[in-house]
Amino acid sequence: MTALFDRHRAVLPEWLALYYRHPIEITHGEGRHVWDAEGKRYLDFFGGILTTMTAHALPEVTKAVSDQAGRIIHSSTLYLNRPMVELAERIAHLSGIPDARVFFTTSGTEANDTALLLATAYRGSNQILAMRNSYHGRSFSAVGITGNQAWSPTSLSPLQTLYVHGGVRSRGPYAELSDRQFINACVADLEDLLGHTREVAALIAEPIQGVGGFTSPPDGLYAAFREVLDRHGILWISDEVQTGWGRTGEHFWGWQAHAENGPPDILTFAKGIGNGMSIGGVVASARVMNCLDANSISTFGGSPVTMAAGLANLSYLLEHDLQGNARRVGGLLIERLRAVAAQLPLVREVRGRGLMAGIELVKPGTDEAHPEAAAAVLEAAREGGLLIGKGGGHNTSVLRIAPPLSLTVAEAEEGATILERALRSV
Ligand SMILES: Cc1ncc(COP(=O)(O)O)c(C=O)c1O
Repeated sequence: MTALFDRHRAVLPEWLALYYRHPIEITHGEGRHVWDAEGKRYLDFFGGILTTMTAHALPEVTKAVSDQAGRIIHSSTLYLNRPMVELAERIAHLSGIPDARVFFTTSGTEANDTALLLATAYRGSNQILAMRNSYHGRSFSAVGITGNQAWSPTSLSPLQTLYVHGGVRSRGPYAELSDRQFINACVADLEDLLGHTREVAALIAEPIQGVGGFTSPPDGLYAAFREVLDRHGILWISDEVQTGWGRTGEHFWGWQAHAENGPPDILTFAKGIGNGMSIGGVVASARVMNCLDANSISTFGGSPVTMAAGLANLSYLLEHDLQGNARRVGGLLIERLRAVAAQLPLVREVRGRGLMAGIELVKPGTDEAHPEAAAAVLEAAREGGLLIGKGGGHNTSVLRIAPPLSLTVAEAEEGATILERALRSV
């Protein structure tokens, strides 16, 4: 183990963070469980950063990958690709975007990069509105629209970014307002901002901020923003890399909590759809998608093996109503965590929806972030046989819980019990 850790450190970048004082090597998984190289079994409440969406080693996905790999692994976008067309048809239909076109990439970063390329080309402007505390990926363009400083290593950018209020409900200057007042204040702020800018290309937002600690605005904020954006011809990009595919339980996409004025102009996705195979992508109406006047390809985007995995995974998700499962089991889990939190001054807030729950930790009696406690709870949970994640603002003090969407009630109970013990031990 240690030897592998040493070799990792010797050959990989320092900024490639590892969880835990003694990092673990995950060697295999099944359902909602994974095993490390020492044979210890864990209940997985993080799914490799919300990416193992249905289950580990789901036989349907494994078979689809292996069958496709046995036929052909790669052909490129220069040739017709049946699984790619089929998955694009299904995603176009599910997206809610009229006359939708889909472009596949290999990551969420590249999906957002493409969305930015489309929006800036379509609008003839490099000005972007992004949310404070946001995260959209690691490329040069993506870090330029990342409002979470801890994840944005350079201030150089091909874009001019203006940060908007609203992604964080329970902190900041509007925290004490009612939901309606909060939305009105954010809209007024946006209107004011637009009064001081030239043409803006797009607003990009995560309906629930992932890396930012599962924070979100009141339902309806982005619908209210949409009204303002429409008046200016500004596009709305919904980054659904974490919130897509029914994880939030109530909705298939996060934007549907803000649906009053229709779907976004551009939707980006990644993570869960491939269940670990690298699929990202962009959906936009033909009008926006086809605005580029130069060639563009992705050598690996839409590769047959990943598309076969995506099709099998999506079919399983829909046929087993995992969105409904996320709503039911996630609802129980959040309720249980809230009951525990009510007895612990360490917990400031339990938030989220479906199987996307955040537990924000503070120094008891204060509103001050408590990253040391978050790290300690992560360690204690791991000791107890539970993997969770963390995130949130500049001081990582939010525990992130996002199991595969097939989580059972018994597993939710088991995980909550381990987590409760971990929280109490800190
Ligand atoms: C909301 C959001 N957008 C984009 C990304 C980037 O995706 P990837 O890591 O696949 O490039 C992430 C990754 O965590 C994310 O959470």
